Amino acid sequence: MRDHLAGPGTGRVGGRGGDRVTVRVPAKVNVQLAVGAARADGFHDLANVFLAVGLYDEVTATPAESLRLTCSGPDAGQVPLDGSNLAARAATALAERAGIEPAVHLHIDKDIPVAGGMAGGSADAAGALLACERLWGTGARPEELLEICAELGSDVPFSLVGGAALGTGRGERLTPLEVGGTFHWVFARAEGGLSTPAVYREFDRLAQGRTVPEPLVSPLVLDALSTGDPKALAAALTNDLQPAALSLFPALRDTLDTGTRAGALAALVSGSGPTTAFLAADESAAHAVAAALTASGHCRAARVTTAPAPGATVL
Ligand code: C5P
Repeated sequence: MRDHLAGPGTGRVGGRGGDRVTVRVPAKVNVQLAVGAARADGFHDLANVFLAVGLYDEVTATPAESLRLTCSGPDAGQVPLDGSNLAARAATALAERAGIEPAVHLHIDKDIPVAGGMAGGSADAAGALLACERLWGTGARPEELLEICAELGSDVPFSLVGGAALGTGRGERLTPLEVGGTFHWVFARAEGGLSTPAVYREFDRLAQGRTVPEPLVSPLVLDALSTGDPKALAAALTNDLQPAALSLFPALRDTLDTGTRAGALAALVSGSGPTTAFLAADESAAHAVAAALTASGHCRAARVTTAPAPGATVL
């Protein structure tokens, strides 16, 4: 477990009755997403190489009479604020384990695209879990927090640890990976979102009549990450969900082409989409790609950032 999970100091501010804990948590891109056949439980086995990127949500926990959720940010209107929200479920799960009431106000300051394929909901769950743990002082060990994360969703454990990791099983079993440099990325927000289950269903539909190979991690992706070589990573990137995402959201092809023409080393759909991801050779190339994407009108906004980013961090 990485040090940032402990965070600086106690992570609390304010006096009695005024405690507040804020946790910053990153988005992710999958630099390899190898998807196997549907399992009996409906999930798919994966070889999922996660890379945390520098787009963040912030989750703030303050004591309250009962569980309450609020959200701010450009996409706040699309975030469900009831018990179905993964951040609320994280607080409830931790409180149940600790035998206490989830008496907390969670505020999510949202910068990660909603339903965008960047694990924004998972990030909020991991952020809420760590914020509540610090606020309540439950003493839950990192392993227990990871266990709760895995119950909440396949991508949630990675949101907690960040950096880079191989996820196997349905993506929740993590092996940390070394990254030998900084990668420069551009992310283009699409108009609208895609439902992850719908993209997996489309994957199954497109796979009908053929044998889906066992998902295996690519040594080329691991080598490219460990050497920090963007050209090598660009040549090795794969996303088995991309044909399904493009089938449901054909306009993404234009966005991918625009980024490629503007000099991106590689262009791909981020996870289940519809955010598109562009790997650039360096920071100035990334800004050129972002400018071309913005000018094209093929996306809602383009953001330049770097990877790897740290996991959930108490501010
Ligand atoms: O684990 P999570 O709740 O994020 O998954 C959302 C949905 O995505 C699942 O209900 C399932 O339809 C699909 N999924 C899958 N295989 C995975 C991960 C997710 O089929 N490994």
